[in-house]
Amino acid sequence: MRRLAAETRLHAADLVLPLFVKEGLAEPAPITSMPGQVQHTEATLRDAVADAARAGLGGVMLFGIPAERDATGTAGDDPDGILQRGIRVAREAVAAVEAEAPAGSSGRPGPVVMADTCLDEFTDHGHCGVLAADGSVDNDATLDRYAAMAVAQARAGAEVVAPSGMMDGQVAVIRDALDDAGFDQVSILAYSAKYASAFYGPFREAVDSSLQGDRRTYQMDAANAREGLREADLDLAEGADMVMVKPAGTSLDVLRSVADRSDVPVAAYQVSGEYAMIEAAAANGWIDRKAAVLESVTAIKRAGADVVLTYWANEIAEWIK
Ligand code: PBG
Repeated sequence: MRRLAAETRLHAADLVLPLFVKEGLAEPAPITSMPGQVQHTEATLRDAVADAARAGLGGVMLFGIPAERDATGTAGDDPDGILQRGIRVAREAVAAVEAEAPAGSSGRPGPVVMADTCLDEFTDHGHCGVLAADGSVDNDATLDRYAAMAVAQARAGAEVVAPSGMMDGQVAVIRDALDDAGFDQVSILAYSAKYASAFYGPFREAVDSSLQGDRRTYQMDAANAREGLREADLDLAEGADMVMVKPAGTSLDVLRSVADRSDVPVAAYQVSGEYAMIEAAAANGWIDRKAAVLESVTAIKRAGADVVLTYWANEIAEWIK
């Protein structure tokens, strides 16, 4: 009866798995603050994407960690940069799994390959943009870098680019750049209402972040809900194909409001700190891990997410099969 009456269901196709690929690694490197998650080599990334494809996930979201960082994040749009290499590997892995489908069947489309379009993994100062002379993040100078990154990602095979840096105007600039380069089929998943959050803490380890200070001049204040709706409206007007609210667990009210007014799919990102909290409590025997994971993701869907980015995507897909 509970199954029949359930208003919300989880489906593998709604889940997106974030994955990290690091340049120059010989073996995958465990991320201590995210038990079970690793920085991948290109070879293990291939396996991880193949697993995601076999699990029937809707997407994978790739983050690259370069060997060299500089002030403008040069590696971010280098055609041979680690993220571009990772995108190519991911597309190959998806294609290989799709080809396993029995002859004559239509097969099952593999996960969409998405890429993080942001400078923070590539800059030596760790900010999401380039800096002005006074050390502040220069919004408009950053837009040119995002446009170049998005085109490099599309050239490498990204099907969705995901600007996560909260620069004003980023969606419009990326749309124009993609269209001019002939990538009118590449979609934009806009991180629209992205809050400056303590819950990104473990992610800093995941990408070896060199950030000094914080992101409060460009990411939103957790005190503000209306502002989140305004950010989503701006991104929709600029041509976003999907909008995102993040972190998911602390923004369920904003997520509900965005979902109610958006006419494109709405995504929510269950971030590293949300993952780490449940893993840590479960490791201590303080909560039932599986029940807590499923409840947390079900709540995010109930609040209006069509798509959930979660580090548990593969495991959840296995549980609900
Ligand atoms: C920025 C980016 C961040 C996350 C995703 N994209 C870090 C930040 O904004 O500081 C966080 C994801 C997580 O915590 O799981 N490229």
